[in-house]
Amino acid sequence: MITLSVIKADIGGYVGHSSMHPDLIARAQEYMEKAKGQGLLVDFHVTRCGDDLQLIMTHEQGEGSERIHKLAWDIFLACTDVAKKLKLHGAGQDMLSDAFSGNIKGMGPGVAEMQFEERGSEPVLVFMADKTSSGAWNMPLYKMFADPFNTIGLVIAENMHSGFSFEVHDVKEHRKVVFNAPEEIYDMLVLIGAPSRYAVKCVRHRPSGEIAAVSSTDKLYKMAGRYVGKDDPVLIVRSQGEFPAVGEVLEPFAMPQMVQGWMRGSHHGPLMPCSISESNPTRFDGPPRVVCAGFQLVGGKLIGPRDMFDDPSFDEAWHQANLAAEYLRRHGPFEPHRLPLEEMEYTTMPQVMKKLEGRFSPL
Ligand code: F6R
Ligand code: MG
Ligand code: MG
Repeated sequence: MITLSVIKADIGGYVGHSSMHPDLIARAQEYMEKAKGQGLLVDFHVTRCGDDLQLIMTHEQGEGSERIHKLAWDIFLACTDVAKKLKLHGAGQDMLSDAFSGNIKGMGPGVAEMQFEERGSEPVLVFMADKTSSGAWNMPLYKMFADPFNTIGLVIAENMHSGFSFEVHDVKEHRKVVFNAPEEIYDMLVLIGAPSRYAVKCVRHRPSGEIAAVSSTDKLYKMAGRYVGKDDPVLIVRSQGEFPAVGEVLEPFAMPQMVQGWMRGSHHGPLMPCSISESNPTRFDGPPRVVCAGFQLVGGKLIGPRDMFDDPSFDEAWHQANLAAEYLRRHGPFEPHRLPLEEMEYTTMPQVMKKLEGRFSPL
C-alpha cells in the first residue's frame, strides 16, 4: 500500500500575497531530498499555488503519520525562517501553533491524504487553489462523480455505472454524513450546495469502496477561533479505469464557478483555472486560482508533474472568469461581491456598531 499526502501552508507571500519566492521552494526541496535519502519518503514534489507552499509526498507510513506530518511541520518552520529573513509578507501566517503535537491537522496547514494499492496504471491529479476555501471543491466533485452531463463514464462505462459515495463534513458542527450517488443526490445537494457549511471530504467507488478523491477541509478561522485566512484548499483525485477519465476530472473547471475568498478573504469571485507559473493572483488579489499537477505513479514514484491546466482549451474559462471578475468588481463594497457579514474574513462591524451606539432609534 502506498500513501499519497499533500500538505500545504501559506508561510509568506512574494510580493504581498501574490506569489512565492523561489528560496522557499528550494529550502523545502533540501529537506525533502534528505527525508527521501533516509527512506522516509518514496518520492516527493514541491510546488506552489499562488502564495501557498505545496508538499506532495508518497510514502509507506499510512495516513495521519506522525513522522510525515512532523516532516511537513519542520519544513514549514524552516521556510518561515527563510521568509522572515526576506521579510516576505505574512511570514509564518498559517503556523498557528507553537509546538508540534503529533498531527499537523488543526495547526494551520491543510492536509489531504489517501492510502491505496497502486493499480496497473495509476494516474493521480493534485488540485491546489489559492484565495478561496475548502467548499470550492463541492461543485467540481459533484460534477466529476455524480453528473452525467460532465462525466459520460457514469452512463456508458460498466465499471462506473454503480455510482460513487460522498462523505460530507459539516465544518461548523464537526460531524459527517455519507450519501450514495445517484440515489441520494437531491438530499446531498441540499447540503453541499451550501459550501461554506458543508464540504465533500472524500469520494469512494461503489460498490468496491475504493478511495477516489480526498480534499482538505480545514477551516482556518475555526481553528484559530477567528478568521486568519481562507484555507486555500487542496484535492487529490485518482483517475481512469473505474474512476473518471482525466478529461472528465478536469472538465468541471471549464466553468469558472463562483467561490468565496479573493480580496481579504471577504468576496465572491470566479475560480480561474491556470498553469502553475500563472498562479499569481494580482487583480484585487485575485481572482481565485486553481492549478492541477498530474502524475503517473510507478511503485510510489511520482512521474511528473504535468501542468494540467497549461492547455489552450481552458482559454475560454480564463475569458469567462475575467468577464465575471469585471462584472463583480463593479459592485464594489456591495453584496453579493462582498460576502455576507458573518462570512467575511476582515470586518470592522464591531467597532462601527460601537461608534453608532446611542445613534439608533426605533423605527
Ligand atoms: C486573501 C489574501 C489577501 C489579503 C490582503 C490583505 O486571502 O490573502 O487578499 O487578505 O492582501 O492582507 P494583509 O492583511 O496581510 O495586509
Ligand atoms: Mg497569503
Ligand atoms: Mg494563499
